[in-house]
Amino acid sequence: MSITHITVIGGGTMGNGITHVAAQSGFTVTLVDVNDAALERAMKTITSNLERQVKKETISADDMKATLARISTSTSLEQGASNADLVIEAASERMEIKRQIFATLDAVCKPTAILASNTSSISITELAGGTKRADKFIGMHFFNPVPVMKLCEIIRGLATSDDTYATIKALAETMGKVPVEVQDYPGFISNRILMPMINEAVYCVMEGIASVEDIDTVMKLGMAHPMGPLTLADFIGLDVCLSIMEVLHNGLGDSKYRPCPLLRKMVAAGHLGRKSGKGFYAY
Ligand code: CAA
Repeated sequence: MSITHITVIGGGTMGNGITHVAAQSGFTVTLVDVNDAALERAMKTITSNLERQVKKETISADDMKATLARISTSTSLEQGASNADLVIEAASERMEIKRQIFATLDAVCKPTAILASNTSSISITELAGGTKRADKFIGMHFFNPVPVMKLCEIIRGLATSDDTYATIKALAETMGKVPVEVQDYPGFISNRILMPMINEAVYCVMEGIASVEDIDTVMKLGMAHPMGPLTLADFIGLDVCLSIMEVLHNGLGDSKYRPCPLLRKMVAAGHLGRKSGKGFYAY
């Protein structure tokens, strides 16, 4: 099917990045969030990230204007999604919230509309099971910062149809991303590999093997990672890292995925990384 109108649910870091890239790729986009303040914050972020691209001369001022003109906002899920060909959900990583959103979307969206979730670890098969269109349900997992990171993991639920997969793969390419097809298992590919690495780095801190800075230096200079694992953990949010480790531990049942006690302790203390002003580093 052809997609021209995309609705994005949630204007946080991922949602505003997806909105930015979809609009820049020529799609009409409606961004939905719960209140006007959240939508204003999201539009401010999109505008300043587009300004950064204009300054770097990767896009023109006219491209920026045209991109912004393709974005509208709404605080109503029903109104914002009723005309969409595709809805990409990027709300909080909580099963109850997502299931509620998808139940509403299933009821108000066109029967042909595809529903996608940007979840980083919740089962696509389980989310799809709460709708009557599991064949038109799929995972589109983008990476932060969305305008910069080239990857889009495309997760097939048990019932995702070949047509839905083909449409979403082509769409990700139109958005300038490199799609990778992944089956629905805990953590998909990205977080199945990334989170145990971060968790192991936290064990190295807990065991006093090296300082936070030195652990990051090892991975930056020895393995050419753009950020060390502890800087990256702060960037992602320690609560998010912990919750993904729990998904891996519960879903795969192997003790090698046990979350590091220091990670639990830091989350309990509210040291969540950049967003709380303190994590492995102070911000
Ligand atoms: N919008 C648009 N452009 C942006 C941007 C944004 N939000 N943020 C950065 N950029 C651009 C900059 O303008 C710059 O462009 P040029 O190369 O043209 O100069 C480029 O990106 C690099 O940015 P900076 O020079 O400011 O900084 P940097 O070189 O340190 O790079 C980084 C920053 C891109 C974030 C880099 O450190 C990086 O790649 N880090 C790793 C990020 C990562 O691993 N993300 C995945 C997290 S996991 C996840 O998202 C999913 C999950 O499920 C947990």
